[in-house]
Amino acid sequence: RSVLAPQKPGLAFNAVSTSVADAVRVPAGYRAQAFLPWGTPLTNTEAAWQGDGSDSATAQAQQIGAHHDGMHFFPIDARTTAQNSEEGLLVMNHEYVDPAFLHPNGPNAAPRPLEQVAKEIAAHGVSVAHIRKSAGQWQLVADSAYNRRITGSTPMRLAGPAAGHEKMQTLYSPDGTRARGTLNNCAHGVTPWGTYLTCEENWARCFVNRDEHNREQTRYGVASEHGRYYWETATPSADEYQRFDVTPRGANPHEDYRNEANTYGWIVEIDPFDASSTPIKHTMLGRFAHEGIIFAEAIEGEPLVAYSGDDSRFEYIYKFVSAQPYHRATAGSHLLETGTLYVARFNDDGSGEWLPLDINDPIFQRRATAANVQFSDQGDVLLNTRLAADIVGATPMDRPEWGAVHPQTGEVYFTLTNNTRRSAEQVDAANPRAENYAGHIIRWRERSDETFAWDLFLLAGSPGTYTRDTAITLTDDNHHACPDGLWFDSSGLLWIQTDMSGAIQGGETYGNNAMLVADPDRGIVKRFLTGPVGSEITGVVTTPDRRTMFINVQHPGEGSTPESASSHWPDGGNSRPRSATVIIEREDGGIIGT
Ligand code: FEO
Ligand code: CA
Ligand code: CA
Ligand code: CA
Repeated sequence: RSVLAPQKPGLAFNAVSTSVADAVRVPAGYRAQAFLPWGTPLTNTEAAWQGDGSDSATAQAQQIGAHHDGMHFFPIDARTTAQNSEEGLLVMNHEYVDPAFLHPNGPNAAPRPLEQVAKEIAAHGVSVAHIRKSAGQWQLVADSAYNRRITGSTPMRLAGPAAGHEKMQTLYSPDGTRARGTLNNCAHGVTPWGTYLTCEENWARCFVNRDEHNREQTRYGVASEHGRYYWETATPSADEYQRFDVTPRGANPHEDYRNEANTYGWIVEIDPFDASSTPIKHTMLGRFAHEGIIFAEAIEGEPLVAYSGDDSRFEYIYKFVSAQPYHRATAGSHLLETGTLYVARFNDDGSGEWLPLDINDPIFQRRATAANVQFSDQGDVLLNTRLAADIVGATPMDRPEWGAVHPQTGEVYFTLTNNTRRSAEQVDAANPRAENYAGHIIRWRERSDETFAWDLFLLAGSPGTYTRDTAITLTDDNHHACPDGLWFDSSGLLWIQTDMSGAIQGGETYGNNAMLVADPDRGIVKRFLTGPVGSEITGVVTTPDRRTMFINVQHPGEGSTPESASSHWPDGGNSRPRSATVIIEREDGGIIGT
């Protein structure tokens, strides 16, 4: 692996100014076009978008879902040369729903009508869309056998140490090996063998337990009065929705849904090239509010390494190392089923340690005993990943979101989006600001299997904000807040996307959410794109030739209603705002970002 960066493009575009316009703005010489908005017919061309929220639950399950998030472009030849830049599978997450816009007149009060609940669950999950460029225009390939929706109801199988665990047994799967659906699909990952990983983030409050919470529920925040959307009240009542009420009822775990929430909080593997494949929930990668997962470069004959953040205040960053070595010829899902899950400690002197969460590790055993915590087996450790990380002394971070691995140096970058609840007493070198409303980006370089060296790449904030480790001072051309999405293109340019919410979004200082591009090797950062009103910018990938970029605009008009929508993006007029992908190209057909 070369430590020298190759000749890098010059970022020779004029930075975009901050904006409060209800539009996507890109630099002069570029164009941006909305693509595959929420409601686009995907697996049934008859399921046409109605525009007023009147689409049925059945139609929604055949249309592009809501709230686009993490995304990847798989060239149609991904399994061979992976060079096709004009045809491929665009695979994207649908993180959550806004019932105010999803239904004609917003959500009905509890007990919720079954049809509305079914539609909300169908709008979550993943879309696999076969797309092709013809006559210079990207289009969905209608009727393609690759087109697929995966939703909060799709049957899945469980893999890894917690599969078949007694805490996974439900009425749906008495032997604890299967689960139903994936929800709150935030960021994503791509395996070295070309499958897609979707990550379950804010699933906990979809479930309610009206009795005493067990430890698999308390540390994750399962609700105690009602689920986030009252799905458990669906009427007429159906087992499919009653499962969101995890209050124990039967005599045994497999006679009710007390364990249903334990089947969430995982990373799910999907083979986008096989629409009939069953998605796999990988328990070896830990259970928490997974943002995404990023793999280090896979090296022939060495273990596979991947990183995942737990996006909640004062939560942790994790590393997975496979037990089996990676071999390109045989690589596959099995590599994610055995291995070691580590959690990060960032020491104040710039060193760091990966602490194993392994029931067979003597230090882990000693720390569990000292904390008076018992785990029955490794499945139990993984079901309680956060608790295991607490007892080994991991460093609580300012909301770990996306990670990205520098394609030339192998350094790992991670966004820490914000944490306004960190007090002055809780400040440490890796999380250096109290009431951190603007967030920052940390990075590290592995030193050995269990040690690393870290520094701070970029503190976000208003113009003048200075990062000592990299000597970068923010200006009007690149100031920003709340970094979230993060992605390295193959040349080593780092794309940074923001997710400000509340008072700072749309304000005078920062305007709407944005995307910036950085050349970390030269310390240059420039604002490349600004988004519509009330949206966050997320999901970023290019075609292999880097001449088409895909990004996602999530929740334009957030916090408003159809009657007084703050955004009408992308359709304009008086339309309902819709999350959508955006295609970015250069007018001269050149490489994006150069
Ligand atoms: Fe779904 Fe942490 O963003
Ligand atoms: Ca995010
Ligand atoms: Ca976020
Ligand atoms: Ca969001």
